[in-house]
Amino acid sequence: MDATTDKEEPTRRDFIHIASGTAVVVGTGFFAWPLIDQMNPAADTLSLATIDFDVSDLEEGQQVVAKWQGKPVFIRYRTKAEIAEADAVDLDDLKDPQTDNERLIAGPDGKLKPEYLVTIGICTHLGCVPLFDPNDEKGGEYRGWFCPCHGSHYDNSGRIRKGPAPTNLEIPPYRYMSDTLLQIGTEA
Ligand code: FES
Repeated sequence: MDATTDKEEPTRRDFIHIASGTAVVVGTGFFAWPLIDQMNPAADTLSLATIDFDVSDLEEGQQVVAKWQGKPVFIRYRTKAEIAEADAVDLDDLKDPQTDNERLIAGPDGKLKPEYLVTIGICTHLGCVPLFDPNDEKGGEYRGWFCPCHGSHYDNSGRIRKGPAPTNLEIPPYRYMSDTLLQIGTEA
C-alpha cells in the first residue's frame, strides 16, 4: 500500500500499515505510522516508559522517527537556515502562537539546542502521521511537515500554519542526559 498514491483524498485506511517492529526509522521521505498498532499497542510497547536516543547518530537535515509509548516521535536535526526561518516567524501569523525557543529544551549546560527539535509525530487534527520532506512539496508549504489526510501544513518548528489542525505538534516530555543523549518520557 502506498500512502503517496492518493494525495488528494487519502482515506484513513491508507495510513494503516503493518507494524515493522522497528523502533527507530531514519529517512528524509515520508513515514506512515501503523495506526492499527496505536489502537492495540503490544505489552512491550506500553512498558517503554522512556526511550534513549543519541542525536550524534543524526546528520544535519535528517529526521528519525522513534517509537515511544506506542506513538511516533520525530527527532529532527535542523539546519542553521531552518532554525533562522523558524525564529523569524511573526507570532501574529500563528494559529497556536509559540516561539521556536518555547518548543525547545536546554542541554546540560543550560543552553537551548535549537538544532534538535523533538515532537510527537501525530497530527493534532485527527491523528494521522504528517509527512517529512523539507526539500520537496511532500513536506508541505512551510518545509516542515504535511498531513495529507486533510491538508495540514506545519512549519519546521512543528507549528500549525495552514489547514484544519487546531494546535502545534505536541512536544513530548524529554531531557538531555548528556550533550547528545536524549531521554524521551522524562521531564527536563
Ligand atoms: S488528520 Fe491531519 S489534517 Fe486531518
